[in-house]
Amino acid sequence: MKDVYILAIESSCDETSMAIVKNGKDVIGLSIATQIDTHARYGGVVPEIASRMHTEAITLVLEDVLSKANMKMEDMDAIAVTYAPGLTGSLIVGIEAAKTLSLIYDKPLIAVNHLIGHIYANNIESDLEFPMLALVVSGGHTELLIMESDYKFKRLGETLDDAIGEAYDKVARVIGLKYPGGPNVEKYAKEGTHSYNLPKPVMDDTYNFSYSGLKSAIINLVHNAEQRGEEINKYDLARSFQDVAIDELVRKVEKAFKETGIKRLVVAGGVSANNYLKEEMQKLCDKYTAELFIPRLLYCTDNAAMIGVAAYPLYLKKEFCDYSLNASSHTDIC
Ligand code: KG4
Ligand code: ZN
Repeated sequence: MKDVYILAIESSCDETSMAIVKNGKDVIGLSIATQIDTHARYGGVVPEIASRMHTEAITLVLEDVLSKANMKMEDMDAIAVTYAPGLTGSLIVGIEAAKTLSLIYDKPLIAVNHLIGHIYANNIESDLEFPMLALVVSGGHTELLIMESDYKFKRLGETLDDAIGEAYDKVARVIGLKYPGGPNVEKYAKEGTHSYNLPKPVMDDTYNFSYSGLKSAIINLVHNAEQRGEEINKYDLARSFQDVAIDELVRKVEKAFKETGIKRLVVAGGVSANNYLKEEMQKLCDKYTAELFIPRLLYCTDNAAMIGVAAYPLYLKKEFCDYSLNASSHTDIC
């Protein structure tokens, strides 16, 4: 069979990224322009600034990825783009670029869900095998799914309020750590001990998650300490938070191992970059003789390679879309 080259575009948040992926697996070129330093000045992503920066970066990122891969647009077989979930203004920049390239070069257009992209990132360096459990942990989502085959998902549970990444970012902000919060909270947690008594999320009989109680408890604790003029130990608080937040993920995955008998776990999304999460999931998988898949750091956070990989099964099924494609409010995986 002839090799298939997909140009993939990702612009859902604060990274403008393009990749060229061969046969849904080999990343021939990857370019990522990150806006982190700009948003760090404001303590979080400013949507208007994000979309403007995507507009400025997009043609440069295209030139960069083509030159890295030493290929031309004419060599591509399809254009894939993230259509949801994400910041609408940011998504639109990538979608318009994809539609324009598709029209000019007469290539089919493929729409990819960002979260499904995170899951497929695991297919770059391993081979996804089904059925598997998929834990999606990002800035906007916390979901536990069964993946039965390509694009066939069954949701076991999701967060009822805040996503785990969001909780990391809020905790970072309230204890005075810079954006992006997740990696900084992890750094502080590594130096601290679990000395604060924080409430455990109590969603025992379901697969659902809840992080707003934990987040609020920390905000209250910090404000009360400030009012009393007491010092907070940032290291210990970060550690106490991280222990509770990650242990909750472990508990739910353990329940799923017991109840489904599935022996494979894929962890996906920005929070999968967290080393404590990786260690705890590895221990759990060892206990249940299950296989653990977590992408390497580059593919844990937002990147277009995962979009190119996730687009491949759609390419094979000829699931193409027309130019009415827009940033969608239909964000669900299933
Ligand atoms: O997947 P992602 O890059 O963007 C979304 O799709 O949301 O995830 C971003 C989230 C942020 O909340 C960030 O703080 C978190 O992932 N994150 C981490 C770590 N690295 C990124 N959380 C905990 N530990 C990390 N090392
Ligand atoms: Zn993401």
